[in-house]
Amino acid sequence: MKILMVCLGNICRSPLAHGVMEYMVKEHGLNWQIDSAGTGGWHVGQQPDSRSIAVAKKYGVDISGQVCRKFDNSDFEAFDQILVMDLNNLEDVRSMARNESDRQKVSLFLKKGIVPDPYYNDDQFDPVYQMIEKRCSEIIEEFKVSI
Ligand code: 4NP
Repeated sequence: MKILMVCLGNICRSPLAHGVMEYMVKEHGLNWQIDSAGTGGWHVGQQPDSRSIAVAKKYGVDISGQVCRKFDNSDFEAFDQILVMDLNNLEDVRSMARNESDRQKVSLFLKKGIVPDPYYNDDQFDPVYQMIEKRCSEIIEEFKVSI
């Protein structure tokens, strides 16, 4: 299973989803490939936001080695699942899909609702982390049987 986590900046939400999922995949001994990208390119080449690094560290996950990159068309071929954080991400990524097969790979990360952008609100990083962690463990259970 190859999963790409996508948000707008690839410095707050998707690096958390990337790091937490990678951590859980390792814990479960699964041979999955996890990555993340942003629909916007403002922070390409940078580390995740220091607040995301800090909240992940608080819960034992190190995301400090990640490097921000922009979502690319080739990601449709490279990944089985492209999981996006909000409705803007969904629209942006789906609009880049070249065919129905590409489009089918794209879905919201959460089963219900969106992961809010914490960029302008320091207090949101902890709840966002919690939401991401809960969903990552559900995803492991959902897809474990299909590998
Ligand atoms: P993210 O948050 O999409 O969760 O990485 C954001 C980070 C940066 C910006 C927007 C959202 N920005 O406009 O620079």
